[in-house]
Amino acid sequence: MINMPRLAKDDFFDKIAQQGFAITYDDVRMKTGHSKVLPANVDVRTRFSRNISLQIPIVSAAMDTVTEHQMAIGIARLGGLGIIHKNMSVKQQASEVATVKYHMNGIIEKPISLRDDQTIEQLLNMKQEKDYKFDTFPIINSNGTLVGLITKHDIDFCNNYSLPISQVMTRKPIVEKDGLSIENAYKTMKSRKIKVLPLVNGNRKLKGMYVFSDVKRLVDGNQSGFNLDSKGQLIVGAAIGVGEAALERLEALMRKKVDVIVIDTAHGDTDTYLDTLKQIKSKYCSLDVVVGNISEASSAKNLIDAGADGIKIGQGPGSICTTRIIAGIGCPQVTAIYNCAKIAEEYGIPVCADGGLRYPGDIPIAIGAGAYSVMMGSMLAGTDEAPGEFVFQEGRRWKTYRGMGSLGAMTASKESRERYRQSGKNRDELIPEGVEGIVPYKGTLREVIVQYIGGLRNGMGYVGVENIDELRTKADFYLLTAAARAESHPHDIKITKEAPNYQVG
Ligand code: XMP
Repeated sequence: MINMPRLAKDDFFDKIAQQGFAITYDDVRMKTGHSKVLPANVDVRTRFSRNISLQIPIVSAAMDTVTEHQMAIGIARLGGLGIIHKNMSVKQQASEVATVKYHMNGIIEKPISLRDDQTIEQLLNMKQEKDYKFDTFPIINSNGTLVGLITKHDIDFCNNYSLPISQVMTRKPIVEKDGLSIENAYKTMKSRKIKVLPLVNGNRKLKGMYVFSDVKRLVDGNQSGFNLDSKGQLIVGAAIGVGEAALERLEALMRKKVDVIVIDTAHGDTDTYLDTLKQIKSKYCSLDVVVGNISEASSAKNLIDAGADGIKIGQGPGSICTTRIIAGIGCPQVTAIYNCAKIAEEYGIPVCADGGLRYPGDIPIAIGAGAYSVMMGSMLAGTDEAPGEFVFQEGRRWKTYRGMGSLGAMTASKESRERYRQSGKNRDELIPEGVEGIVPYKGTLREVIVQYIGGLRNGMGYVGVENIDELRTKADFYLLTAAARAESHPHDIKITKEAPNYQVG
């Protein structure tokens, strides 16, 4: 535990707390200050948890209308992180994680191989059972020597699946020596027009494999700003619940190399929750586990004591949430972020501000209040990469977006019922804590992230800070009156052209 110096914003939040008030995004704006850096040059890198870094402080919510593999790939390529939701079977969720991890394979260190005496039918069964996303397999003989490759092309032209692979495979494939660099692999594959390149040692034992589409993406593409792990694969997270079933889910996700786990419930400060967290941390001490949601400093302390590597703040601020209205609880989000971040900072644990953001300017405010990152649902749900359905209404396009505690989500999945601690209930006994609706279609994820990060950069420029740490520690706030809030938004004008970063209503 570190003793933290007193910050400028401490007085601001203390005065508000002394009067018994708590505040949220629309209640505050940050003070501007002398700036030495241009917005384009500020550093927006940060962390989601103890060991999970982010190139931009944006995480997509673990919701069934926000984050599946398309969103997770899209956001990691833009520097953020996606948390694959858990309203799906364990197998499906693990497969979603695998799709993100395989997206940027450099070298495949341990390619899945088959023996030449296995049949095509065995190969197809294995592919289906293990849910492999690829169609090319190196083939070895009983001595473990590479003897061929089987490709989709070979299988497509095979009309007898009981044949041994040795009779269908492509023999004597082009190979290279173990240790070949990705750049040289690219050159070889391009000049020889081959889609896979196995690597072998002097005894022709398989030591790795390159796949052209991955290699091309890595060598040709501009990866600066991607959120990558040490092997050059995209970083991805996944949500789990609590109890025994959650531990099984966790193991399946870890087999697919998930980078970070979020234990996702509406109330993180409960005995069951803390037990699950302790169990996971005692078994997998090197896995980062982010926990939540909570909104009080005492809860943050409980989670840190139980081993949390990151904490998610937010009980009821979300656009689709009705928790505060149905249950009558919840701390307004900016106060919740400040209170939880203050204690977490003493233990070096990053906090993520989850839900309630409506405008780009809410991102620097969340960070100014103490968050390391923000988690978004509605601000991303209208993009192409979100899994929601398109709806045409009132002359424009929308996408469906629903709360994980909505009747629809809870009826569809027991995982959602568990998030709201209603696992054993029948449909007519469910107490929803969320709603279902639509959000305006916003185009590609890239287009919206450019605006959100642009707003953050400008905000940092106005405050006069060069990086996220400085924004967290140097920001100070004004409390807004109703007149000040009205003044902040466009006023005395009928807007005739929608800006890409400001929508009315
Ligand atoms: P935004 O405001 O970004 O919020 O749309 C997304 C976050 O809201 C949480 N969430 C819910 N909270 N009832 C709730 O009280 C719900 O049905 C619900 N669904 C999601 C969640 O933390 C998410 O990241």
